[in-house]
Amino acid sequence: MKKVLVATEKPFAPAAVQGIREVLDKAGYELVLLEKHTSPEEWKQAAADVDAMIIRSDKATADIIGAASRLKIIVRAGAGYDNIDLDACTDKGVVAMNTPGQNSNAVAELAFGMMLYHVRKGFDGTSGSELRGKKLGIHAYGNVGKYVAEIARGFGMDLYAFDPFVDNAVIEQDGIKPLETEQELYKICDFVSLHIPSNEKTKKSIGYDLLSVMPAKGTLVNTARKEVIDEAGLLKIMNERDDLNYLSDVAPDCREEIEGKYPGRFVFTAKKMGAQTAEANINAGIAAATQIVNFLEKGDNSFQVNK
Ligand code: 3PG
Repeated sequence: MKKVLVATEKPFAPAAVQGIREVLDKAGYELVLLEKHTSPEEWKQAAADVDAMIIRSDKATADIIGAASRLKIIVRAGAGYDNIDLDACTDKGVVAMNTPGQNSNAVAELAFGMMLYHVRKGFDGTSGSELRGKKLGIHAYGNVGKYVAEIARGFGMDLYAFDPFVDNAVIEQDGIKPLETEQELYKICDFVSLHIPSNEKTKKSIGYDLLSVMPAKGTLVNTARKEVIDEAGLLKIMNERDDLNYLSDVAPDCREEIEGKYPGRFVFTAKKMGAQTAEANINAGIAAATQIVNFLEKGDNSFQVNK
């Protein structure tokens, strides 16, 4: 009987685990559940004899991949796979996949949750401001960016996007003005919502140069990855301009400094929670389980992200 390990430091909603179980039961596979794991040793032990793994932001290092000697496939139930050592997977002949789009709406909704919380001053009873009529820049027009645009239209925001990998015609079709450079996006928009992946090119790519051109009361909303922010540049501009704001799912490493010095100019979640809804967990979890069965039974390698 094939074994599938679900290793999640941040567990899925119970209904998602149930959905995964049903997919695996139907295929005649065994589900092994490792939730809230606290050490690589614990994970390595659980991974020793499994054929497949489902993870979230859990760091699948070469050490973990190496310890899973029977592993054939690992699926990141979510979009970003910066937490998987892809070279280690390729070296061991392990297929790595993600489940693009399955949790995107949840992330987009959180971006608006943070924006509203911020412009309404943490619901403290004092007078805030509105999103209607403000300019929203979507930095990367992928799955999350599209949901952000859809929600923003309901709020009556003016939409702009920058994405060198998407045709301007596609962006225009959705009623959004495509911009040619990042600088333009940050210069024009009151709010910029970040949706770039974290990789060698994008790490620390958003910093002083872009933030300093934002208009008065500019706000950066980061539901992507904290690693794409150059925190030294962020601190520098937060210090130079007392009107700029930073909202982020997952606090930056310089959290204490920002919290201590710049009250009212930040919103940070306690734990990464963009995709933390039952719906997103069910969509991504069931997609992951289905992709595993389709790969192991039929060799279907759709959504493979390593070569
Ligand atoms: C993703 O890349 O899909 C999101 O960042 C969600 O991450 P999570 O599964 O750890 O919540």
